Amino acid sequence: MGLSAPLRYREKIMERFKQYVMRYFEEIVVAVIFVTAFIGTYLIEEVSLILNFYYLPVLVGSFFLGRRIGILIALLSILDVLICAMLFPHRFFADRVLWHSIMKLASWSVFLFLASVTVGTLYEKNERRLQDLKKAYIGILEILAKYLESTDRYTKGHSVRVAEFAMEIAIAMELPRSQVDNIRAAGLLHDIGKIEISTDVLGKAAALTTEEKKEMDAHAVKGGHILTSVGSVLKEVVPIVIAHHKHFMETIETPNSEAQKIPLGARIVAVADAFDAMTSDRPYRKGMAPWQALEEIVANSGKQFDPEVVGAFKRVIRDRMERV
Ligand SMILES: [Fe+2]
Repeated sequence: MGLSAPLRYREKIMERFKQYVMRYFEEIVVAVIFVTAFIGTYLIEEVSLILNFYYLPVLVGSFFLGRRIGILIALLSILDVLICAMLFPHRFFADRVLWHSIMKLASWSVFLFLASVTVGTLYEKNERRLQDLKKAYIGILEILAKYLESTDRYTKGHSVRVAEFAMEIAIAMELPRSQVDNIRAAGLLHDIGKIEISTDVLGKAAALTTEEKKEMDAHAVKGGHILTSVGSVLKEVVPIVIAHHKHFMETIETPNSEAQKIPLGARIVAVADAFDAMTSDRPYRKGMAPWQALEEIVANSGKQFDPEVVGAFKRVIRDRMERV
């Protein structure tokens, strides 16, 4: 356990770094523009090379972050070049006729601005279409989950509730939007593998035999197989569904094993799933009070559950209670 600590620490740092880059992407792009412009102006003789470079952050910013950010990067680039032109006039106004140099810079500025508007507009159109599709896709998954659970009064609405909790935890952990969407979809589909488990085992009121337990436990992997056949749309969801019953401590005990790595989404769905299961009635017991279930989850923090996820879950519950 002691040896695994540095590895876990490194993994955590990498995860944090990724989240940091996603969160401050705009600021990083702007910083790159300024630094490169100054270095480029200082080192590169040919001004057209420096000017052409600015198309890259503008197009990337407009394509991935939308029109507003694209225009902002274009305007900052123009401002940046004007500052550089004032600091290094011999590079930017090398033409014999000053008017020619000014015209070159002006036409470059206009084209850079137009490029940001055009690409940004296309991005936003696509984004709207994608959002509509995502809405429809989540809606269909909800209908499917409700339909699958409609015959069992004990699990009715379970997947929808798990998806809502998982989504709220992901938002509380400030994960990127795309990851939140995948975690929500995984919450809706986490028990889809149960359609391949016999109804006798699923509905059994008494304790399961070893054989039956094995069959029941296989639902996570079976769910992964079912979803793999859907194709690339759910490729981020599959690993979450497969690992949603794994215990957090397995990662600590086997830090070098790729197979044992539990995706963050699965660690989130695990907490949401456990909370809803504990607070719901089952054929063999009554559901716990929410505060009791929360205590149980906190007691298993660092063992069955990821402490960071438990921390975020506590914030979600507190926010929910404040809203009531
Ligand atoms: Fe499950």
